[in-house]
Amino acid sequence: MDKVHVIYGSTTGMTEAVADKIAKALGAQAFNVNAGDAAAFDAELLILGSSTWGVGDLQDDWAAQLDAVKSNFAGKKVAVFGLGDSQGFADSFCVAAETIANAAKDAGATLVGDVLKLDDTNEADQTDGKIAAWVDTLKAAL
Ligand SMILES: Cc1cc2nc3c(=O)[nH]c(=O)nc-3n(C[C@H](O)[C@H](O)[C@H](O)COP(=O)(O)O)c2cc1C
Repeated sequence: MDKVHVIYGSTTGMTEAVADKIAKALGAQAFNVNAGDAAAFDAELLILGSSTWGVGDLQDDWAAQLDAVKSNFAGKKVAVFGLGDSQGFADSFCVAAETIANAAKDAGATLVGDVLKLDDTNEADQTDGKIAAWVDTLKAAL
């Protein structure tokens, strides 16, 4: 079994770009959750990423897939990251990431690290530094 897979849902490509950076930093493969690829869940640590849409809603592909795939989280280590807009949506900033983290915990996963919340819309200059620090905490947990 692979050590790490990154699984993301992304509407305009921002979460996909971060997923690719995280995957590169860990030498891992990244999967789009909309592909319905069962192999995506075959790793010791699953790193799950979603942007937030509507007001606090899951990104569309995660909304379509989460119930169907969450049983795959049982017994796995799971880390979660999210992208959002902390200025336009201060009251629902990155809620989708929390929703996925709670679903993983309820499904029997062990959560690793804090939920990483990125605002690449207003604070793009902070994104790479936050990713690097977060990836270091995940490496320590592997
Ligand atoms: C219509 C709309 C609704 C949004 N709702 C939220 C929200 O509730 N909370 C939040 O943190 N960000 C919200 N966002 C911001 C997106 O999550 C942000 O642009 C994100 O980077 C998009 O990532 P993606 O391209 O990977 O989907 C919203 C953006 C739009 C256009």
